[in-house]
Amino acid sequence: MQNTLTICTTGFNDQKPGTSGLRKRVPVFQQPHYLANFVQSIFDSISPPPGATLVLGGDGRYYNREAIQIILKMAAANGFSRVLVGQGGILSTPAASCVIRKYATFGGIILSASHNPGGPEGDFGIKYNTANGGPAPEKITEAIFDLSKKITQYQLVDAPDVALDTLGDYSVGSMIVSVIDPVADYAELMASLFDFDAIRGLFASGFRIKFDAMHAVNGPYAREIFIKRLGATEDSIINCVPLPDFGNGHPDPNLTYAHELVEILYGENAPDFGAASDGDGDRNMILGRHFFVNPSDSLAILTANATRVPGYSSGIAGVARSMPTSAAVDRVAKELAIPCFETPTGWKFFGNLMDAGKVTLCGEESFGTGSDHIREKDGLWAVLFWLNVIAARNQSVETITREHWAHFGRNVYSRHDFEAIPAEAANGVMQHLKNNFASLPGQKIGSYTVAVCDDFSYTDPVDGSVSSGQGLRVLFTDGSRIVFRLSGTGTEGATIRIYLEAYDPNVENHHLDAQEALAELIRIAGQLSELEARTGRVQPTVIT
Ligand code: G1P
Ligand code: ZN
Repeated sequence: MQNTLTICTTGFNDQKPGTSGLRKRVPVFQQPHYLANFVQSIFDSISPPPGATLVLGGDGRYYNREAIQIILKMAAANGFSRVLVGQGGILSTPAASCVIRKYATFGGIILSASHNPGGPEGDFGIKYNTANGGPAPEKITEAIFDLSKKITQYQLVDAPDVALDTLGDYSVGSMIVSVIDPVADYAELMASLFDFDAIRGLFASGFRIKFDAMHAVNGPYAREIFIKRLGATEDSIINCVPLPDFGNGHPDPNLTYAHELVEILYGENAPDFGAASDGDGDRNMILGRHFFVNPSDSLAILTANATRVPGYSSGIAGVARSMPTSAAVDRVAKELAIPCFETPTGWKFFGNLMDAGKVTLCGEESFGTGSDHIREKDGLWAVLFWLNVIAARNQSVETITREHWAHFGRNVYSRHDFEAIPAEAANGVMQHLKNNFASLPGQKIGSYTVAVCDDFSYTDPVDGSVSSGQGLRVLFTDGSRIVFRLSGTGTEGATIRIYLEAYDPNVENHHLDAQEALAELIRIAGQLSELEARTGRVQPTVIT
């Protein structure tokens, strides 16, 4: 028998899940009842049937362990019969998705603020994933938000903390908690998709890699896969000890925040291949020697080379990309004669397409790439995919990318982020753009002519649900475009993202730096948005 306690509480008004779950500063989550209210709202919105199993784990950031203990006691009080929790409270986001699917559980709770910084003053986050292993769709996240405003009580059992560091089964009230190896199931899945012998051979032939886990969750996964299973040398991995504050870093694998890796790959005697992943292990950045692969190009290149990889050798059903992601993959899909879907930003929109078998590979410009092997983006998966393609083609990252551009043309692409802008000013920029939308089509601006302006809206082809207000698009007659969007993952002020894309069929130009090639579009984006006048910002905080 278990001793269930009912705790009286009142709702908070700010627990609206964003692009990927609820993210707030750690001190916000540490307020009395804050986490428990949200967790109870999740459980009330999903009503777990008797006997249900939950998966639970996080990226190890500050407050992870405390949160796990609270959630375990609440899961027991809310009728779960079993929870699978990663040892030490650790599960990367892709590993959590893998475990939910492999053991056919009811769902999972993932504790992470992804690429946001951690530590006592950093960010924390929580999200719910459904039985398919993917982020809950909007109808569930909206129900959670509604309940979180009205909540009056939550339940938890009175039980001691679970020894999270030791594998094995424990009781919390009448519920069983199984502390599982967080790496094993995931590593096995990777070995089933990729030609590990070929990659081992590549490493044995002297091909040198550098993988940067950024002191985040993927450290133990990288050690198991690259060092133990693929025979890479010890110096192939860096920053592989996970730390609750990510070593004071910003665990976002891009050219700005993964500068340690970037300096190595652009330095003297650079390795052949570099890669990094983010706080919860679902993002990836791919580098060659002195070479950066844009994530939109990466999705296109993996799609074009998929049949060289055992897990995809029989071909792919279709591809999907988020709207702001470049159309490079569309060109590959066209040649392969497979469908290509354009979805709103956020991985949750890919789930239905994959469940329905319409899509095999998908990706986002924000360093997210993945496939239907799970229902989250997957950082190490992308790295292994590239290594498998390199082993099969016996060519460098740069040669593979340049040959791709030579064949398909190049969608020159960049994203400019303007972070921590006062919400009012940011909304003013968006409103100003919208106000001018009616008059822009047909206008010639510099060497570009505006074709269409709209606010992107998506109708899910599987369940018919409509998601509107997903980003302002200015489409030019030559296929170039500028997209303006407000971030849905930040915790401080607003972040304006400007996505710039121009198609260039001419191989001769492909030595050009993206910023140079996009210079005119960058100027037009500033002119149309009045960004500088309205926000005082001239330079982006981050350029990717
Ligand atoms: C950002 C990215 C988006 C990604 C999300 C979660 O969301 O832009 O592609 O799915 O993080 O990793 P945003 O802050 O733009 O809402
Ligand atoms: Zn992430």
